[in-house]
Amino acid sequence: MSNTILSVEDLHIIFRTYLGTVHALNGVYLEVGQGESVGLVGETGCGKSTLGLSIVRLLDESAKITKGRIIFNNESILDKSQEEMREIRRKYISLIFQDPTAALNPVYKIGDQIVEALQMSRSLKKGEAIEEGSKLLSMLGIPESKKVMEQYPHELSGGMRQRVMIAIALSKSPLLLIADEPTSNLDVTIQAQILELISELRKNTKMSLLLITHDMGIVAQVCEKVAVMYAGQVIEFGNVRDVFKSPLHPYTKGLLKVANLIGEKSRLESIPGTIPDLRNLPPGCLFSPRCPYKFSKCMQNRPSNIFVDKGRSVACWLLEYKVG
Ligand SMILES: Nc1ncnc2c1ncn2[C@@H]1O[C@H](COP(=O)(O)OP(=O)(O)O)[C@@H](O)[C@H]1O
Ligand SMILES: [Mg+2]
Repeated sequence: MSNTILSVEDLHIIFRTYLGTVHALNGVYLEVGQGESVGLVGETGCGKSTLGLSIVRLLDESAKITKGRIIFNNESILDKSQEEMREIRRKYISLIFQDPTAALNPVYKIGDQIVEALQMSRSLKKGEAIEEGSKLLSMLGIPESKKVMEQYPHELSGGMRQRVMIAIALSKSPLLLIADEPTSNLDVTIQAQILELISELRKNTKMSLLLITHDMGIVAQVCEKVAVMYAGQVIEFGNVRDVFKSPLHPYTKGLLKVANLIGEKSRLESIPGTIPDLRNLPPGCLFSPRCPYKFSKCMQNRPSNIFVDKGRSVACWLLEYKVG
């Protein structure tokens, strides 16, 4: 498909640790269309951040990609040089994550960092860029934005730094924004404001969004598609409306049931059992130890993504028979 901006194919990633090899990603398939917003959900430790970081090639040294492809804008990310990757991160893919410290340069004023990002993507004069930047900060709920432009990162609170990082990421007008739990530390009003702004910007540009969150409510509010991860695999993918209305994978069903029961924050421990030890994976389906519907095949073979319908896929043997 020519309007696919990102496609991840059969991605496998391990971390070598003193305690053994962690199989963090175990055959991820994911597609993000141009201008599309995809929510990536799943409980802690299922590999969401690892997937996000692999797309921009910012994984730890201990990580090794053992198999698979990442295609961004029709080019292979895994074949790029470090130099080319820096260029891609500077211009085309923005990443925002929970800890803003690493993303901000401590020796430059906030204003200079935003102005640089704005001027990279748009031909603005310095004065115009300052005006734009301070408007953006105000829209992100920062009071006295003109004053903040004159400050250094260490002079701001954590929540403010978080919003400044988001402002810089958005200023670049990237082709793809990867947001890893971007608002988890912020209060609910600010969170809503930021999500609103991201949605607004998406309408006006062709920016695609990969939004990593464990909050199903946010996915329903912001995303068109959803990818549900479990133990390093995307086990269900499709339109938010379809997946939420009729989830096909037993894990997605459990996830939605729990989320509905107790409001927007999902408490996944309510699905009996825990995710498998990623250093010692079960032989068959990774969800089978927890699955109430498993049958013999599930314990022997690992299901890959079965296409159920156009744009909808599920990694579950139960579906193989339904699809025929
Ligand atoms: N740098 C690392 N070294 C070793 N193990 C890691 C590292 N980063 C992540 N992992 C492991 O990989 C798995 C996936 O982690 P992560 O991608 O952070 O999940 P999520 O973002 O969904 O919570 C976890 O078991 C985690 O402990
Ligand atoms: Mg994470």
